[in-house]
Amino acid sequence: MRYGYFDDEHREYLITKPDTPLPWINYLGCEEYFGIISNTAGGYSFYKDPRLRRLTRYRYNNTPLDSSGRYIYLRDDDPSTHPTGPVFWSPTWQPTRHPLEEYECRHGLGYTIIRSKLDGIESQIRYFVPLGESLEIWELTLINHREQLADLSIFSTIEFCLWDAWDDATNYQRNLSIGEVEVVDDVIYHKTEYRERRNHFAYFACSEKLSGFDTQREAFLGPYRGWESPQAVEVGQMSATVACGWQPIGAQHVKVSLAAGERKRIIFILGYHENPNDEKFDPPDSQTLNKHTVKPIITRYLRAEEVESAFQALGAYWEELLNKLQVTTPDNHTNRMVNIWNVYQVMATFNLSRSASYFESGIGRGIGFRDSNQDLLGFVQLVPERARERILDLAATQLPSGGAYHQYQPLTKRGNNDIGGDFNDDPLWLVLSVAAYIKETGDWDILDETVPYDNSPGTEEPLYDHLQRSIQYTLDRKGPHGLPLIGRADWNDCLNLNCFSDTPGQSFQTTTNKDGKIAESVFIAGLFILAANEMLDIAKRHKGKKQAEVYAKATQEMEQAIWDAGWDGEWFRRAYDDFGDPVGSKQCDEGKIFIEPQGICVMAGLGICDDRAAQALHAVAERLATPHGIVLQQPAYSRYYLRLGEISSYPPGYKENASIFCHNNPWIMIAETMIGRGDRSHDYYLRINPSAREEISELHRCEPYVYPQMIAGRDSPIHGEAKNSWLTGTAAWNYVAITQWILGIRPTFEGLNVSPIFPASWDGFKATRIYRGVRYDIQVERHGPGNKVELVVDGQSIEATIIPIPKADIKELKVIARIT
Ligand code: BGC
Ligand code: NOJ
Repeated sequence: MRYGYFDDEHREYLITKPDTPLPWINYLGCEEYFGIISNTAGGYSFYKDPRLRRLTRYRYNNTPLDSSGRYIYLRDDDPSTHPTGPVFWSPTWQPTRHPLEEYECRHGLGYTIIRSKLDGIESQIRYFVPLGESLEIWELTLINHREQLADLSIFSTIEFCLWDAWDDATNYQRNLSIGEVEVVDDVIYHKTEYRERRNHFAYFACSEKLSGFDTQREAFLGPYRGWESPQAVEVGQMSATVACGWQPIGAQHVKVSLAAGERKRIIFILGYHENPNDEKFDPPDSQTLNKHTVKPIITRYLRAEEVESAFQALGAYWEELLNKLQVTTPDNHTNRMVNIWNVYQVMATFNLSRSASYFESGIGRGIGFRDSNQDLLGFVQLVPERARERILDLAATQLPSGGAYHQYQPLTKRGNNDIGGDFNDDPLWLVLSVAAYIKETGDWDILDETVPYDNSPGTEEPLYDHLQRSIQYTLDRKGPHGLPLIGRADWNDCLNLNCFSDTPGQSFQTTTNKDGKIAESVFIAGLFILAANEMLDIAKRHKGKKQAEVYAKATQEMEQAIWDAGWDGEWFRRAYDDFGDPVGSKQCDEGKIFIEPQGICVMAGLGICDDRAAQALHAVAERLATPHGIVLQQPAYSRYYLRLGEISSYPPGYKENASIFCHNNPWIMIAETMIGRGDRSHDYYLRINPSAREEISELHRCEPYVYPQMIAGRDSPIHGEAKNSWLTGTAAWNYVAITQWILGIRPTFEGLNVSPIFPASWDGFKATRIYRGVRYDIQVERHGPGNKVELVVDGQSIEATIIPIPKADIKELKVIARIT
């Protein structure tokens, strides 16, 4: 069953029923100001950091789900003209949930439009964030389809968060006494804590003259009432409250009279603004907010033409980004994900890491080191300058040991001490992201950028040295089998082999009561080879042959250690625990085989020239693959194992305990292409492709336009149900798997490689790729069932599959790839 459909032409997903299985969300903003918005206008906004600069409140895990948002109410002020209609309703369905005669929500790239109709009144609200601004626009258009005049009241509402969302949700004894607002010239300014250490405030403004306002929540809602039935809306009258403590809100009342057939546009803006510290107040010796700096912005965006041109600019921005790669293949699920939604999700994960979604509260995790480095793999071609900045920020949270803070806070860019470091895979991902960045841009100079360790001035070293330390970090931490020690955890945060946690509430990741000298990770060993091979290539070009040899030797040794102790006979083992026993081996009762080492080791090239890569992938197909994707491990853990940690804390089939953890499915897709199996690779691709799962939306439940982190595995009672949509490394990795390996358009240090490994049934496909300023028009033609590639570039056959970077004056290349 579907709840909407893809409108590929407009690059939108159109939701036709408001009661989707879960709220289906979108993101507004792609720079500094962000909002999450659901298909019924739920969600919240923040500036840069969803924890430290939260503008509006959102109550997670609420009942009903998703009942805080950017809500507008419509009220029939003369109900006698329409005695059968409701007195008031939500044109976005929530929060009143009054049935609507028509409803549609269009989630587009950086905007959401919710249109509905009830009792002859049509309304459309277009929500978006203009580029370069820290504000959001709600543009409401009303149309009176009645045959007579409609006297309507419009109420627009938001609930302010007192900035630090964690504190806001916990420290009531203080917070219920600090809320402050000003209401001047019909603009509501939220200025809690402005009098003391903050220089920022929020504002809520409207293009119309207000008939009333409220800023005290209880005055608006009425005692013991919720957002579904605000008293002020019911009676059609606000109380002009100026909040002092309790719960400050912004609620505006606008009255309109619409003649039959008349249409009216009303603009609301919610924004964030900072004043220079010495210009906070006006007059300077008062406590009154200085509004001079923000006034011009408010005035500008309350004008319809400005709103329209900002919306057009947003469209042009996305058009340009998406044009960096467009494909036409015989499979529409592939096309729309590659051309639109997968890229869009890559942007969201780049921006927000794992911080704020409907499954991530925005107060938990900051920017993850491993997460962001992987997100970059899919992002580098989109906005290379931002990728560069992110790489340098991440490197600055690296520690002198070569290890890294597992997370940092986006506002301060400082490593997060609560979680600390010692996730032993972390530093290696930096090598991969830097390699991807250079392959995309050719910007070798980034290696000479000096970057501090732990953000400490005076410790700056070239980025290249950071990468060296990343590699050295693994070499300095090998265990009894010569494999890398795992530390707190590797990619699998829940395989906690040194934690032995037996106390409720103890963190699985940061409790370490073993000395960590025994438990080893085959996964890190594979990742090490992948990273060290990149380093070898980088060193060769940047430092000369001699440096490169060091890495060649290190990878050979690591490979040997994997074959000696990491190969189980039919597949790669996962790890060794603190007792020195294997994890992910036939010898185990449960958790005999894990997906991660099969993916990463084959990607690192292991077993490709003999039969072992194929054997490992065969084991994946036999033991782990399901119609809904490939599960993380089997058999699922049926009980808690003290020596394994959080992985065995989840019920079988969920999360790391044998769900389809979508993030590492693309590793298997890539591995399959590396042994030349395009059919199987693309089959795996489609199993988790959200568009391909649209038809089973009632089972899948999450949005059909973005990847979820997990889909319940075969051991779960609801096999196929997705969770944790949006912020997942799945976005970047699937983008890499489909574009670079299956479609085979892959940047390298030398130029663009075109060597697709795609289904035998496809007769070819077309692609345009902007790469290092050159537009490549690529036509892939299948002339035989295999994977052999012959390239003809601008009419000339070339020997290899890498197209050398053309001379500076060439801006377009025509590439024909003959596949036989
Ligand atoms: C989750 C992991 C996540 C980790 C981050 C765990 O509880 O299962 O998926 O990476 O928390 O802290
Ligand atoms: C989600 C985390 O964000 C990521 O870092 C981790 O690799 C996976 N969970 C697997 O545990």
